[in-house]
Amino acid sequence: MDVKIVIANENYVQYAGVICDLILLSAQQRGTGIANRTPEYIADKMRQGKAVIAMDGDKAVGFAYIETWSHGMFVANSGLIVAHEYRKTGLAREIKKRVFDLSRKLYPKAKIFSITTGLAVMKINSELGYVPVTFSELTRDVEFWKGCEGCTNYDILQRNEYRMCLCTGLMFDPEKQRKSKPTVIVPKMLPVKFLFIRPAIFLKRLFQWICRKQKAESSQAESRRQKAVKQKAESRKQKAESRKQKAEGRRQKAG
Ligand SMILES: CC(C)(COP(=O)(O)OP(=O)(O)OC[C@H]1O[C@@H](n2cnc3c(N)ncnc32)[C@H](O)[C@@H]1OP(=O)(O)O)[C@@H](O)C(=O)NCCC(=O)NCCS
Repeated sequence: MDVKIVIANENYVQYAGVICDLILLSAQQRGTGIANRTPEYIADKMRQGKAVIAMDGDKAVGFAYIETWSHGMFVANSGLIVAHEYRKTGLAREIKKRVFDLSRKLYPKAKIFSITTGLAVMKINSELGYVPVTFSELTRDVEFWKGCEGCTNYDILQRNEYRMCLCTGLMFDPEKQRKSKPTVIVPKMLPVKFLFIRPAIFLKRLFQWICRKQKAESSQAESRRQKAVKQKAESRKQKAESRKQKAEGRRQKAG
């Protein structure tokens, strides 16, 4: 099995029918209905460079494409399909990553969202940075919600006035990712600060402390020296005085 995932173009239009069949078959097996995707629609996505396709030789075995809503403010990575015999090998994860990267490149400011009941898609999207959101966060574009008309749960969505259904809404918001970055970077920076700024302050304080101590010690030594000099001078004076008195006494005796 040597599967290659590529961004589809005109050369892959011939596989549009096979992909539609795969999507239809899976939808029937899951019993969840299906958004209306004709081979022409899929072929158009390929021509626009808004689809990725997984090929095993000349066999199409996986697919996903990009849809835009609300004038490009919202992007959905739709139509994810992996052929039965290729499932549980990590292929969907690779396709999703590829179509996600393509969406980020083509629509860097758009919010990328999906609605799904599938655990596999929830897992993969979470890994890509999607977070669960209520339907109120999603596009209000009626064309998007029309895509749910083919689903067997559509009546539930209608009953809840498009505010909730059995699907979970997931969204990747580039703005929130950008804002949340500093909180990731700052803790990373802290050790650097501690490494370079804290030791610098510590060394400065240590140096100041040593200087103060040396100054205090030298001034204490100086005053001790001065005191000793004074005491020596004093004792010399006293000795000289006593010698003087003794000499005076001897002179008086001799006289
Ligand atoms: C859903 C689908 C795309 C998954 O394809 P896949 O190639 O088997 O998925 P991967 O091998 O990349 O698996 C990704 C993760 O999802 C898990 N997973 C895959 N299929 C799963 C399933 N049916 N139920 C629960 N988890 C599933 C895998 O275990 C893996 O998780 P892990 O790494 O923690 O073990 C594939 O089953 C499919 O084409 N289904 C029909 C179409 C469909 O449902 N599309 C999604 C529309 S929202």
